[in-house]
Amino acid sequence: MDHRVSVGDDVALKIDGPLSIRHLRESEREEDLMASADRQAITGGYGSLNGSLHTFLSEVRTDLEQGVLSPRVLNDPDLHRAELDRIFTKCWVFVGHVSEIPSPGDYVLRYVGEDQFILVRDEQGEIQLLLNNCVHRASPVCRAEKGNTSHFRCPYHGWIYKNSGEWNGAPYRAKAYRKLDADRWGLRKAPHVDSYQGLIFACLDPDAVPLREYLGDMCWYLDVVFGLKEQGMRVVGEPHRWIVPSNWKSGAENFVGDGYHVQSAHRSLSDIGLVPTERSAGLHVSLNNGHGVLVIERTVPESFGATDFPPEVASTFELDRLDDNQRAFLTRHSVVGFTIFPNLSLFRAAGVTEDGRPTAVQISLRQWQPRGPEQMELWNWPMVWDSAPEEFNRASYDASVFSFGPSGVFEQDDTVVWRGGPTVGRSVFARKGMKLNFQMGMDGMSDYEDIPDWMGPGEASTTFFGERNQRRWWQRWSEALAAS
Ligand code: FES
Ligand SMILES: [Fe+2]
Repeated sequence: MDHRVSVGDDVALKIDGPLSIRHLRESEREEDLMASADRQAITGGYGSLNGSLHTFLSEVRTDLEQGVLSPRVLNDPDLHRAELDRIFTKCWVFVGHVSEIPSPGDYVLRYVGEDQFILVRDEQGEIQLLLNNCVHRASPVCRAEKGNTSHFRCPYHGWIYKNSGEWNGAPYRAKAYRKLDADRWGLRKAPHVDSYQGLIFACLDPDAVPLREYLGDMCWYLDVVFGLKEQGMRVVGEPHRWIVPSNWKSGAENFVGDGYHVQSAHRSLSDIGLVPTERSAGLHVSLNNGHGVLVIERTVPESFGATDFPPEVASTFELDRLDDNQRAFLTRHSVVGFTIFPNLSLFRAAGVTEDGRPTAVQISLRQWQPRGPEQMELWNWPMVWDSAPEEFNRASYDASVFSFGPSGVFEQDDTVVWRGGPTVGRSVFARKGMKLNFQMGMDGMSDYEDIPDWMGPGEASTTFFGERNQRRWWQRWSEALAAS
């Protein structure tokens, strides 16, 4: 137990335990306050969950074992606050791609939960994630969405920070701040930033496990999408961003396993031949930590080589970087989607001619950014390989925009149906006992079984007709919220 009590400026007491109260020396007090501020800002400062949320979350876990879930999860303000506090400050969260900040000084503005950060490559080439708030009076120090700079100068009183976050000066420093301890007044930075296959993640928890451990078996699937050669995958332009009147979890949950909705929500696209009428040739891979992958049988014939790309692109890949099983996977399967808990997803699909020739491969990273309990900001990064011909990349980019851009034909289908989450969560009638159904594939409900000798890590299912990935995503969500 550790509480501080202040009375005015002069008296400071620290309660170390129920019977131990002592005065703090001034220096000790300052250190103590700093440490407390660090803990509060980095590991969450909203205190413990109230009892009713704890009770609700334990009901969620019990419900999920029965394949049901309360609609309250899709709009409750207390749960939303707890998500920011306990998921977005504890998990590794995607913040950008290395191709967005290739040179020292390159920066872009990014979010972890609802907090805005500067993702920047400093003068030493290290990637930093800096809270975009001045430590003097909290003004944003960076107001451009992207750029290149060696320093950030706060517009309010002019404090200056290096692009590594260190305090670097202030106007009239000799008159105003002769004794300021510069080492203590840098921009607050994420304690952990790391990347895997070019994807940059940050974690605000000082005690985080390493990124590779957090991703776990998801690394195997990231390799077969992004690891076909050492470098060369890049995002095209800036991420598209738009507001959707839905809870962020609807997107994360959809991309972790919902192959079932395609025949209905996207029916008009199968009617005109853009997607197959039935997607039974797909499977789920359930991974640890709430991550999950959607896999389909390849739409491009094996004769085109062990990827979905045309020969002139495929010949630039270094497939010896993959293991035998990963290469075998590529000859038969494609990753069509995934979610990395909490809020990063992927969509990937190959466009083919009638004889199976690849015309485009669209690869988009998608992030479901929370914006209050009833809104999300959707971010979409179309990606291409540098080694592909410009014309092929243009077609791939156009396909990304056409399908999952702000006006994309798939996008509109999905974002219309996800609007139901906030409205049912708001409904007092729905709260009186309504449960959402997550039972597909449970207990003989379908032919959803494990493939006994799946070539990759994780548990792979025989069909899309199940919701194990979604149940596990929600299980992970409820455990993350309930964790102390
Ligand atoms: S708020 Fe930044 S210098 Fe004052
Ligand atoms: Fe969809």
